[in-house]
Amino acid sequence: MISQKEYAQRRKKIGINLPNNSAVLLFSAELKQRSFDTEYKFRQNSHFYYLTGCIEDKSAILLLKQNNQLKTYLFVEPKNKELELWHGKRIGVKKAKKRFLVDDVFSNKKLKHKLKQLEIDYLYGDIKDSRLQKYKKKFQVNDILDSIRLLRLIKSKSEIKLIKKALKITQEAHHFVMDMQKQGKYEYEIEAELEYRFLKNGAYSNAYSSIVAGGNRANTLHYIKNDKKLKSEQLLLIDAGAEYQYYASDITRTIPVDEISREQKEIYTLVLETQEKIIGMIKPGVLRSQLQKKSIKLLTKGLIELGILKGNLQKLIKKEKYKKYYPHGIGHYMGLDVHDDVLYKDTNGNEIPLAKGMIITIEPGIYINKGDKNVPKEYRGIGVRIEDNILVTKKGYKNLSKKIKK
Ligand code: GLY
Ligand code: MN
Ligand code: MN
Repeated sequence: MISQKEYAQRRKKIGINLPNNSAVLLFSAELKQRSFDTEYKFRQNSHFYYLTGCIEDKSAILLLKQNNQLKTYLFVEPKNKELELWHGKRIGVKKAKKRFLVDDVFSNKKLKHKLKQLEIDYLYGDIKDSRLQKYKKKFQVNDILDSIRLLRLIKSKSEIKLIKKALKITQEAHHFVMDMQKQGKYEYEIEAELEYRFLKNGAYSNAYSSIVAGGNRANTLHYIKNDKKLKSEQLLLIDAGAEYQYYASDITRTIPVDEISREQKEIYTLVLETQEKIIGMIKPGVLRSQLQKKSIKLLTKGLIELGILKGNLQKLIKKEKYKKYYPHGIGHYMGLDVHDDVLYKDTNGNEIPLAKGMIITIEPGIYINKGDKNVPKEYRGIGVRIEDNILVTKKGYKNLSKKIKK
């Protein structure tokens, strides 16, 4: 659990860098219509959640900096018995005053009036949000999200705890399907086993649509249809992670449906050894681009050794010949979002190096399409990715998903 004190500290950090006579206004997510009068399950906007811990829609937070003092006001939907009959209990103004460590709580009906009264020079928020843009006439409106993204890069102890819990749930699910008899089953049956275990163990849902890809379908990077039958001698790529109390996990394992061929093993070993070497490089100060470069070198070298790429290592890298087989990044930051909405570059456009408290995925992969006539037949249709979630520590790293079998 994240304490209210921690949310207040985050707001304070945002407030410190605000100019005097300005305010930050952030809105909650809105319910999304699925069809006619049916809505998708609600999930709070991650930035709003990060600063409030509030999980209700129709909410807003106002940070007001005047006389060099920061005041925080939360706006929530007022209690309404009739609406609550359909949509569930609301916290309401009175209870919210007790729960949240803010200076005051108001009904969301009062937000407009409150802003009308404000005498400030700048209004910050999500510049793309039409609810903020309404105030463009009255205030100079600026974006605040990069300041939040910078804070979100570094995870606190309590955030790391929640990610560990998400990973524990994910581990149970992956281990269950590893032990299952899979030949002849449909991919969605595996998906169901995974997601059953996510929900059963208290996860809100998956952190992203699960990828369950047998054989050549692993070569479609975002394959989520999961509707084909698993055949003997295929590999099965599973990219699935639970979201627990708003925190993600993101794990890929590639396993045999039953038996494994020599060529499948060779590709798997290349990906695994590359992953181990890249994880070993992780420590504060290292750049993500350095990890990317090294992973390209290792995978290209391996592909040459297997006879899949032919030619000189440096030339193949320069001509980006590896891209056909390794088309994606080595990893991404993870937190409230699976692809965490954090800052990757500073204001000067320079890459932000790894630092203690960051969580990054390391996920090399090799994908050889079944129609690729340039490679020996035995390698065609093999797709392998292995993905773990790594915490950057003071001196190095900790693989948070180490216990998930490979
Ligand atoms: N599951 C999406 C990714 O690995 O980035
Ligand atoms: Mn990932
Ligand atoms: Mn993934």
